[in-house]
Amino acid sequence: MRIGILGATGLVGRETLELVARAWPGCELELYASRDQQLDLNGKRYAVRAAASLEDSKAPRGDLAFVALDDEHSKRYVPHLLELGYRVVDKSNTFRGDPKVPLVTAGVNSNRVDDSVRLVANPNCTTIPLTLALQPLHKEYGLESLSVSTYQAVSGAGIAALDGFLEASQRGYANPDRLGTSFDPKAYAGNTVPHNGGTDDSGFSSEERKLVFESKKILELPELGISAQCCRVAVAVGHYENAWITFERRVDLDEITAILSDAERAPFVRFLPGAAGEGLSSVASVRDRDRALVGRLRRDPRDATQRTICLTVVADNLRLGAATNAVRIGSRWFASKDFELQA
Ligand SMILES: NC(=O)c1ccc[n+]([C@@H]2O[C@H](COP(=O)([O-])OP(=O)(O)OC[C@H]3O[C@@H](n4cnc5c(N)ncnc54)[C@H](OP(=O)(O)O)[C@@H]3O)[C@@H](O)[C@H]2O)c1
Repeated sequence: MRIGILGATGLVGRETLELVARAWPGCELELYASRDQQLDLNGKRYAVRAAASLEDSKAPRGDLAFVALDDEHSKRYVPHLLELGYRVVDKSNTFRGDPKVPLVTAGVNSNRVDDSVRLVANPNCTTIPLTLALQPLHKEYGLESLSVSTYQAVSGAGIAALDGFLEASQRGYANPDRLGTSFDPKAYAGNTVPHNGGTDDSGFSSEERKLVFESKKILELPELGISAQCCRVAVAVGHYENAWITFERRVDLDEITAILSDAERAPFVRFLPGAAGEGLSSVASVRDRDRALVGRLRRDPRDATQRTICLTVVADNLRLGAATNAVRIGSRWFASKDFELQA
């Protein structure tokens, strides 16, 4: 079996490389990035080729490819991979809106991936954990509407942004300034900033629109009332989301606890009981990288009909929010040797 990883030197590509070795040990790897180079990872050295070599008519054919490139480069290389016989999981935004391309959260709508499908879009890093928490509750109570507020880690912006953030944080916190005014008010270090890239006439940013659009597509609820507000916080890895969710009928908190604690009904979810949210944090998600941490379950006191809850969802954006979900999608075509990575 030959597996290709495009963007292998990036944050998501590196995680994908580690997971591929767990899911399909012994597979042949073809790694691609912007140019020919070597990648040193976990004591191993890998040869990486320029992705442009895929445009050569003699490029090697393959079975399964994971694409962790920006939108522009996904658009350029995915068609070549398909021509070379690869089944493709693309992690960019390029194909998510295409009605012919399944958008899949493993454990929610994995059944959309069968032998007839050759290209699958991997959802955004906030959509994956949110839909894992919503789907089992929707099955039981029927989703009516929700509001989500996200607190997203800097690694979501890629390796260069993360490295810049780590360096600026070190410099900023080295300064004994209790107000934090030595930090740049427009930058990530020591700061909370709006996730406002691609804000359009609606007033919402592309990140906010993605979360709304993708949740409706995955849950197959085109009329779902959903609104999102996103920001970035000074955290390296681990996206945190607070949601207010209204169902069609009255909910029972003990029943919700039972549903979200059941691995069959709520796959890839780890429910943390207790309104205080003990064990729930960005850093905690990086220690339990392949599941959505869900907790802080409470009733919303504004809703006298008792149909609305408050819930927190946290996940490692590089793993569950990207690489793990992609590998689980791949496991629908080629069974994973690692049960944790099988969808
Ligand atoms: N980070 C997250 O939390 C996250 C979560 C979900 C989805 N995603 C999506 O996954 C994709 C990758 O994100 P990332 O965070 O891993 O980005 P990243 O760390 O910035 O890595 C980008 C990758 O793209 C490669 N690249 C850059 N220019 C290229 C070119 N001209 N031709 C071929 N390859 C090129 C880079 O190779 P070089 O090293 O050679 O420059 C690197 O391997 C994006 O679409 C992103 O939106 C990211």
